[in-house]
Amino acid sequence: MTHAKVLRWLRTVVVALYIFCLLSQWEGRVISAWLPIICGSSFLLSEYLHPTYRPIFSRLSPSPSNAAAALVHLPLCLPHASDNNTSGIRLINLVMVTMTSVTLGDVRVVRSVDVQSYVGLKPSTARKSVSLLRRTETRPLMVVRASKEGDISVKSSGLSIEESEAAAVAGNFPDPPPPWRPSAPKGTPNVKPLPLTRRPRRNRKSPTLRDAFQETNLSASNLVLPLFIHEGEEDVPIGAMPGCYRLGWRHGLLEEVYKARDVGVNSIVLFPKIPDALKVCMFIQVSTIFFIFKYEVCCTFLFIQSQAGDEAFNDNGLVPRAIRLLKDKYPDIVIYTDVALDPYSSDGHDGIVREDGVIMNDETVHQLCKQAVSQARAGADVVSPSDMMDGRVSAIRAALDAEGFQEVSIMSYTAKYASSFYGPFREALDSNPRFGDKKTYQMNPANYREALVETEADEVEGADILLVKPAMPYLDVVRLLRDNSALPIAAYQVSGEYSMIKAGGALKMVDEEKVMMESLLCIRRAGADIILTYFARQAASVLCGMKSK
Ligand code: PBG
Repeated sequence: MTHAKVLRWLRTVVVALYIFCLLSQWEGRVISAWLPIICGSSFLLSEYLHPTYRPIFSRLSPSPSNAAAALVHLPLCLPHASDNNTSGIRLINLVMVTMTSVTLGDVRVVRSVDVQSYVGLKPSTARKSVSLLRRTETRPLMVVRASKEGDISVKSSGLSIEESEAAAVAGNFPDPPPPWRPSAPKGTPNVKPLPLTRRPRRNRKSPTLRDAFQETNLSASNLVLPLFIHEGEEDVPIGAMPGCYRLGWRHGLLEEVYKARDVGVNSIVLFPKIPDALKVCMFIQVSTIFFIFKYEVCCTFLFIQSQAGDEAFNDNGLVPRAIRLLKDKYPDIVIYTDVALDPYSSDGHDGIVREDGVIMNDETVHQLCKQAVSQARAGADVVSPSDMMDGRVSAIRAALDAEGFQEVSIMSYTAKYASSFYGPFREALDSNPRFGDKKTYQMNPANYREALVETEADEVEGADILLVKPAMPYLDVVRLLRDNSALPIAAYQVSGEYSMIKAGGALKMVDEEKVMMESLLCIRRAGADIILTYFARQAASVLCGMKSK
């Protein structure tokens, strides 16, 4: 049966119920039949009658869950439906706040009257390795290797230090090393040395020299670990990003942060997976029963609060709660947050979507300011607007300052490109744009100079750190920013870059660990001070001389 058929069928049932209920009213029997009336009418109203909301619904394709949106409410109104005192005109207000998430082609319903109660989850039952979490101190085990084995071409005399000293006192100095002429493979042509004044290979001839002249270094303090969190208890693996999980905010998150700190990574950035139910469109349904003499008249008003991601600045939302928990457990941790509406919007866009699909700039900035302030209030150290709206850095700075958060930094996604490398991330957060793409706000991958325009704006507006994203395919842009700004530069090695290296390693096409370390070093070489990377913990383990897994 097609969705359309199911829907038609359900509508018939709803209408039949409606008529049945009306009839039973007139017989003087007050039954709890208001429920289907309320539900049915709001359903019909929402879908057909209200011209204002039609554009919103026109984005929905009919589906069975669409009908469920109307029907699932039933139990909610039961307690209210039995008052049949009918003298004069009385008003009983049935206020049902029904949250419905609207996704393109799908409407789902949460059984909730109270937003707060949805937020508060059951206490954790599974608390494994609590003892592990009690340990708060970190042990950054930095192993420095003076030289690497191999590469040794001159044989030592084998004397101990005392023997060498005695020999020297006696006037027996060791012979100079014999001119070293190891044999070349047979058939190597015998040529006169080239008359070169500059032979750059001289500076690469031994591990010690190579290490001495190494221009760029990578350390755990350069790494920021992005973490996905959700409301659940379990850590759910992310299919397209092996080794990454949607972490339970109360347990998995703390454990992961503990492990990261253990290898010296003390900076994290949080990305929430918001339950569909809390995404953008919220329906407020107010049903009123008028008792006019003996007759009850039921009115249902349906307000759609198209609130454009209000959950994004709920002080008790997932991100602020996680920040408070982390700061309580690890006070010295540095927490970066993502400022954008996409995890909170059923459209998957970073800003508020107008009816005609346009992403509204200034209105979005207004919301982002509230989001940043809410994160700062929870204890975030660095808020990072990743939305690419114009003017958001100065607006956020002003909003933070006005609330007394002068010390909270802004890491601006200065040059964020409309990249296909974000694919696995969007799977992780279920934040794929439901329509269109992000090209009206994220930058065109073909553009280089434009990054300077963004850089200038962000500097003037008061950004503390400038970020380029993705990293590896955009190293030229990292360098461009490095050379044109004195501010610290961050680069985001995004999900697609991570997944490709993981896949190449799993297929034994490349050496995962070496390619990982090289990619990070190269991003540093291009000019990044810090790197946001899903490899942060694994790479830091390698830097500690530990096995990477
Ligand atoms: C959106 C956001 C995205 C990423 C970080 N913040 C995705 C997007 O712009 O759609 C992607 C990160 C990654 O791919 O690792 N605010």
